[in-house]
Amino acid sequence: MKCKRLLGAVMAAAVLVTSLASCSKEVNYTPDMAEYAYEDGAPSLRDVYADYFQVGAAVNPRDFEEGTDRFKIIDKQFDVYTLENDTKAENIHPAEDEYNFEATDQLVEFGEKYDKTVRGHTLVWHSQCPDWFFCDENGDDVTADVLVERMKEHITTIVSRYKGKIDTWDVCNEVIDDNYGLRFSDWLRIIGDYDGDGDNYDFVEIAFQTAREADPDARLIINDYSLEVNGNKAVTMYNMVKQLLEEGVPIDGIGLQMHIDYETDVERMRKNFELLAKLREVDPDFVLEVTELDLSCFTSNDNSTEKEITEEFTQQFDAKYCEVFNLLMDLSEEGILDTVVFWGYDDGSSWLNEFPVEGRTNYPLLIDRDLKFKSAYWNLMNLPRQREAGETQSQEAE
Ligand code: XIL
Repeated sequence: MKCKRLLGAVMAAAVLVTSLASCSKEVNYTPDMAEYAYEDGAPSLRDVYADYFQVGAAVNPRDFEEGTDRFKIIDKQFDVYTLENDTKAENIHPAEDEYNFEATDQLVEFGEKYDKTVRGHTLVWHSQCPDWFFCDENGDDVTADVLVERMKEHITTIVSRYKGKIDTWDVCNEVIDDNYGLRFSDWLRIIGDYDGDGDNYDFVEIAFQTAREADPDARLIINDYSLEVNGNKAVTMYNMVKQLLEEGVPIDGIGLQMHIDYETDVERMRKNFELLAKLREVDPDFVLEVTELDLSCFTSNDNSTEKEITEEFTQQFDAKYCEVFNLLMDLSEEGILDTVVFWGYDDGSSWLNEFPVEGRTNYPLLIDRDLKFKSAYWNLMNLPRQREAGETQSQEAE
C-alpha cells in the first residue's frame, strides 16, 4: 500500500483530529482541508486511488506552465495526461506535408520531467481529421491504396517520433456505429474489405499493426463512447475485437470514454463491462481503460441550457460519481482496469458547456469554475477508505 507523504504543518491539526493517520486511506477528507484545488496543502486524488488505478485528465498546453494554478492542480491530482485536442489529425497533421508537433512535444516533455504517464489521442478518427486525407487534387476520393499509405505514413511518423515516450495510444476512435456494425466513416468507406477476407475491419487492423511496428512497447487502445449504456455497441465492439485478437491484431485494450450523466444506469454499465472483460479469455493481458470520464448534469434527451444545482441534485450527482467509482474499483480488483482519465478537470473548461447544446452551462467535473473543490471531490476522496472499512457509501462530505 502506498503511504501518503506527511501533510505538512498547516494540515497537522486536521490530521490529528482525524486519528493521527499516516496512510491516505485512513484520513477523513473534509472540505476545510483546502478550498482551492491549487492550494499547497490540497490532498491528491491520485494518491488516494493509487492502490486501484492511475488517475488522469485531459489537459491543454496552458496547463504545462509551471507555477500557475492550473499546473499545480494537474501535477498534484493526476498521474496520466491526454491532450484534449492537439494530437488530433487536424492539429498535428493539418496538411499532407505539414506536421505540427509543438503541443505534443510539450506533453511529452512534461511527462518525462515529472515522471507521468502520457496518452496520445488519437490516430484514426472520423472527426477532427482534415479532408486532405480522403481527397485527391481534384477533390475526388482517393483510392484505398492511397488512403492506406497516408494512414500508415501518419501513424508511423507520429508514433515513431514519440517511441518510448507516449505510453498509450488511442489508435482508433469511435469506429463503432451507434445502431449497428461499424461507423460508415470515410476510413471504412474508402478502405473497406482491403484484403478481401470478407470483413471490413481492415482499416482498424492496418492501423494497429502500423502502430505496433512503430512502437512495440506502447499500449494500443481502441476507444469509443456509450459502451457503458449501449448494449448493441458493446456487443459489436466485443465481437470485432475478439475476431481481431484471434487473428493476431495487436489491440491491448478498449478505451471506455464514459461521457455519462447523473442518471446513467451503473448496473447496466457493469453488465456491459463484464462482457468486454471476457476478452481476457482470448488475451489474458487485455485491459479496459476509462479514457474521457465526465458526468453531465443533463440527460441526453434534455436540451436545456441551464440547470439549477440544488442541494438535492448535488447529492444525486455525488452519489452517482461514488457508484461509478465503486464499480471502477471492482474492475481494478478484478485486474482488468488500471487507468481512469477525466475529460478535463474543472467545470469551466469542460467541452460539455457547449456540447451538444450551444450556450449550455454544465458542471460535470470535480473542480468548479473558480478552481475550488466540489463536494463530489471530497466524496470520492473518502470512498476508498469507506469501502475498505466496509462502510456503506456516504453521500455527504462532512
Ligand atoms: C472534444 C474536445 O473536448 C473539444 O474541445 C473539441 O471541440 C471536440 O472534441 N470524444 C473524444 C474527444 O474522443 O476527442 C472529444 O473531445 C470528446 C468526445
